[in-house]
Amino acid sequence: MKPRLIVSRQMPAPVAERIRAEFDCPWPEGRDMTPDEVLHQVTTTQAEALLLTSHLKFDAGLIGRLPAHLRIAATCSVGFEHIDVAAARARALPVTNTPDVLTDCTADLTMLLILAACRRAHEYDAIMRAGWRRGYGLGEMLGLRVSGKRLGIVGLGRIGQAVARRARGFGMTVLYSNPRRLPAEIEQGATFFADLREMLPHCDILSLHARGGPTTAGLMNAETFALLPKGAVFVNASRGGLVDEEALIAALTSGHLFAAGLDVFHNEPAFDRRLAELPNTFLIPHMGSATIETRTAMGMRALDNIAAVLSGRPPIDPLWN
Ligand code: DGY
Repeated sequence: MKPRLIVSRQMPAPVAERIRAEFDCPWPEGRDMTPDEVLHQVTTTQAEALLLTSHLKFDAGLIGRLPAHLRIAATCSVGFEHIDVAAARARALPVTNTPDVLTDCTADLTMLLILAACRRAHEYDAIMRAGWRRGYGLGEMLGLRVSGKRLGIVGLGRIGQAVARRARGFGMTVLYSNPRRLPAEIEQGATFFADLREMLPHCDILSLHARGGPTTAGLMNAETFALLPKGAVFVNASRGGLVDEEALIAALTSGHLFAAGLDVFHNEPAFDRRLAELPNTFLIPHMGSATIETRTAMGMRALDNIAAVLSGRPPIDPLWN
């Protein structure tokens, strides 16, 4: 008999194919489910495993009501702010995420945000779509050169390091702030700042790669944006909660920031539409890992975690030990 699995959101085709082959699952391709539906499905199908994504708030309320036959919950994401890990641990429910496999694509997308924000990609694209009515003088519609700029990275973890490697290829100088200084082989010449506030005045471009959650909520606010030099570019491909969007909009409107490139927002998908009305923003609907290769690898990694636990082995990517 195949193990029973519930999948709470649509998965890439190769992942659905593997689910069909290895699991007993009512919707192998996945289906958007609310927490109540997840509870209902897990209970009525007697599922042993749950494959979820960051759309599902896997909080103490839901975890506490899950039946004992559920043996693992695997999120198909590297971030796990949607999971109450302490509640899962208290109930001895293994929970796993999908690190590493999305590092390169998220770093690539960060470079897209940096380049698009500096080079006014949104405005140029809008001009073309409106018919490119006239040629521009040599002093009109100018963007910012990326090479030679100082890029401040907040959080030099896996993704931050991958962004730093790419940025060096573009001729940027890397600065970073992190809870602790990293060894020289990881720093690769990047300048460490123990205090974010001390780094900000030296950043031409700032890119966030810290974890979300209460400890980093509102990290970028009116006070910290003001510490960036006038004309700086701001990029966020980590979590929207790190940013006070009211303060971001004010900094973009006043011209204190030249532009922003954003993949993540405070409220998703109901983001603050004022950000879309500004000419100097380049916006993406939370797509950091959204390539065929990476989303497939994430789904496979989540299934590998599920397969490990259901066959009595330890999870590969446990969120608690
Ligand atoms: C992740 O993997 O954390 C992405 O941001 C999708 O939620």
